[in-house]
Amino acid sequence: MSTILLQESAAAAPRGVPRVRTLRLALAGCGVVGGELVRLIALHEREIAARNGVRIELTRVLVRGSGRARPDGVADRLTTDVAEFLAAAAEADVVVEAIGGTDTALRIARTALGAGRRFVTANKALLAAHGPALMRLARRHRARLDFESAVGGGIPVLRALREQLPLTGIEAVRGVLNGTTNYILTRLAAGEPYTAALADAQAKGYAEANPARDISGHDAADKLRVLAWLAFGTHPARLPVRVRGIVPHPDRLAADAAALGGVPRLVAEARRAAAGITASVEPVVVAPGSELGQVHGADNVVVVESLHNGRVRLAGPGAGGAPTASALLGDVLRAARPLRSGAASADDGVEESAPHRWLLSVPRAPQAEARLLRVLERAGLQAPPVLRAADALRVVVGPAPWTHVDLALRAAEAVGLGPVASRLEVG
Ligand SMILES: NC(=O)c1ccc[n+]([C@@H]2O[C@H](COP(=O)([O-])OP(=O)(O)OC[C@H]3O[C@@H](n4cnc5c(N)ncnc54)[C@H](OP(=O)(O)O)[C@@H]3O)[C@@H](O)[C@H]2O)c1
Repeated sequence: MSTILLQESAAAAPRGVPRVRTLRLALAGCGVVGGELVRLIALHEREIAARNGVRIELTRVLVRGSGRARPDGVADRLTTDVAEFLAAAAEADVVVEAIGGTDTALRIARTALGAGRRFVTANKALLAAHGPALMRLARRHRARLDFESAVGGGIPVLRALREQLPLTGIEAVRGVLNGTTNYILTRLAAGEPYTAALADAQAKGYAEANPARDISGHDAADKLRVLAWLAFGTHPARLPVRVRGIVPHPDRLAADAAALGGVPRLVAEARRAAAGITASVEPVVVAPGSELGQVHGADNVVVVESLHNGRVRLAGPGAGGAPTASALLGDVLRAARPLRSGAASADDGVEESAPHRWLLSVPRAPQAEARLLRVLERAGLQAPPVLRAADALRVVVGPAPWTHVDLALRAAEAVGLGPVASRLEVG
């Protein structure tokens, strides 16, 4: 790690060479993201010194002690002792958190911000639960909280929301926020079965060994809470988000979408409504050529709709060590500046009641059609023509509010119909 340790003092700089000062960095986590950050810092040492006038000295690196391979040179900085790391964090110029979770990560955040340090995190779960409180702590102690890498990996969407777009009258933030599920849905649409697509996503490092938060939609919901916080000032932990992932019937989501000439996407959306902010994460059938339909594989896209700025669309790699670490490094190197967004206010969101069109499907089975129609009728959904395919029965209902569709889905589930519902943005 000698390449990233600052040995040079400003006084020792030769003539004509810009003065370079030391930036002491305490790093929590040296896995996919933290390890890549260490590698990036070493790789760009000269450029960082030339452009930013700093050399980064890694003071302590907190790990759990799994024995996994580490980047070159960190061995003598490693610690598994949280108390020792917290002491180092209070002394550092910048503290980076890339361990995940909300326990130790929260302790590190409070220590760093309470000591007036710059705290940089990639942890959307931490922000979704404690973002506003940490922001207040940062302001109270003249510290700074940055988290560009927490949503959209390497896409600079949070900076845009915090600094560029606050006064544009944001109406909606929507997009594909989870690279793992988008990769799986892309493969399903190409005809691959779910189990193979998931195994492939895991082999490529897009999905974790336990992909539960991804496929259930909760990872995307955490990210949406952070986006809505910055866009609308809603308290992330109090925003009600309707969350439906791609399970339990992922294969059918793709077949259903294909039956209508569309492709499935797990869409996260927060929108200003008359009574407050509505938010959802759910499967949506979109046209293949639409802005969401064109997002393939592990990429993400975020579309910001605003009154004075129209539609802004940011797309790119949504996850992975290198894009995420690049965003972390950007935060680390950023000059301290006061925040401009009104992100710490605490309006609560509201349940969405706007009507949409929906595609419902159940597998073919004896009596399934009659039971499905009965369920729809009881939920107040007009009985539409049933599309009978070899694999499934499909109906398009609505425009109807989610509450009606939810009622129908629960009733259909209760009688063992195995229903799937996608919001429709095609036809
Ligand atoms: N991977 C991505 O593409 C991505 C993208 C955006 C954001 N993020 C976020 O970045 C964070 C890190 O993700 P990752 O993929 O790098 O995870 P990871 O590969 O599992 O690495 C986690 C690191 O933190 C250490 N660690 C975990 N819990 C700890 C604890 N309680 N005490 C001390 N050390 C602990 C681990 O130690 P050991 O090495 O000893 O196990 C490991 O070094 C998460 O918040 C994640 O949501 C990840």
